[in-house]
Amino acid sequence: MADTLLNTITGTRDLLPDELAQWQFVEEKARTIFARYGFEEIRTPILEATELFARGIGGDTDIVGKEMYTFQDQSGKSITLRPEATASVVRAYIQHAMHREAGITKLYYLGPMFRHEKKQKGRWRQFYQIGAEVLGSDHPAVEAETIEMVLRLLEAVEVQASLQINSVGCPNCRPAYLELLRNELRKEPESLCEDCRRRIETNPLRVLDCKVESCQPRISRLPMMIDHLCADCAQHFAQFKSYLSEAGIPFEVIPRLVRGLDYYVRTAFEIVSGELGAQNAVAGGGRYDGLAEVLGGPPTQGFGFALGLDRLVMLLPEQTRQKAVHQPDLLLAHLGEAALGKAISIARLLRARGFRCHIEFGGGSLKSQLRLANRIKARHALIIGESELASDLYKIRQMESSDQKEIPLSELPDYLVLESSDRNR
Ligand code: HAM
Repeated sequence: MADTLLNTITGTRDLLPDELAQWQFVEEKARTIFARYGFEEIRTPILEATELFARGIGGDTDIVGKEMYTFQDQSGKSITLRPEATASVVRAYIQHAMHREAGITKLYYLGPMFRHEKKQKGRWRQFYQIGAEVLGSDHPAVEAETIEMVLRLLEAVEVQASLQINSVGCPNCRPAYLELLRNELRKEPESLCEDCRRRIETNPLRVLDCKVESCQPRISRLPMMIDHLCADCAQHFAQFKSYLSEAGIPFEVIPRLVRGLDYYVRTAFEIVSGELGAQNAVAGGGRYDGLAEVLGGPPTQGFGFALGLDRLVMLLPEQTRQKAVHQPDLLLAHLGEAALGKAISIARLLRARGFRCHIEFGGGSLKSQLRLANRIKARHALIIGESELASDLYKIRQMESSDQKEIPLSELPDYLVLESSDRNR
């Protein structure tokens, strides 16, 4: 009993303050950078009608087929914890008639998603995405610009990753290619794993994405969509690549890249890092021009991506982690009841000026309070004892160097600013 009550559910976890500082650092960078590209935030519910995802993502996908957290609510309605947010954003776009507004709509979101996947490094059942969607444009320049934005974010947090792209065709050219692929696959089904054999009929494109070792020789001999694009798709892909090149963005064309959601047309991409192991995608996305119509809305072009925050945080180098730490500026060490009163009023003044202050209300010896200052990585400790109260001169100690000097209260804010010139207030 205690085991289940006192532990998080498999695939979920608590994010504790030390790690969360890094998450917030990434989130703040994302908000700043996305705003520069004209994106505004949208927050959609975590609960949506099951049908939204079943139709939007596609019934033959792993997500809809076996990974959704679905239940009936008290009124008997089938509800699903969102496994991704693109379908939700498109729903909101239609519901709030954003298509009637002039110009293209650029929205970003940030929050938890839920998929009942096998637990693995870099894979959780509750995980977090930062994503963005551009609605109302089919221009390949939008795709290059949006990808540039993701890469700017990765640069800002000093994560190295590479861009892989592909075109998955459109309703004009894909059906003939799928038939070709299916016929090819039917020839030697025994060379494929059980999942792939099933996919021959249900979703042959997904065979290309199979990671099972024994399927690889067969997959490498299969025809690829990229060689069977219609003229419009081929031109779109060529333009997309040239916009990337103009932006100085290196990329690799991976004909096997098909993505796990059915709504994609034309451009599909992933940003991958070798440091992640088998689950190597930090971000993925693409174009989904037919999605709004599938959901019952007007024809709407769309392009977007989602970045896995859990995975991005795993990739942060030490120097970024250091920058993310919120060090307290000051621990107010106090000796005695009168000193505590003084500490409280000094902290109030300093907080109003933007300084991060900590008071250990349990008190304790000076030694123990200084030990605590070290443990919480406070930059300074202010020592308030009887003699300081009497003289109104306070000892301030720089924790790293242990340098100590006496200053009057009036000089304290300037001293803290000078000593912490790199801080961000
Ligand atoms: P996705 O490829 O399913 O795409 O997910 C995007 C990213 O979310 C992945 O590259 C990965 O970093 C992260 N992710 C996915 N599943 C997990 C998991 N179980 N644990 C940890 N991280 C995970 C989508 O969700 C699309 N909605 C992206 C999109 C937006 N396409 C167009 N617009």
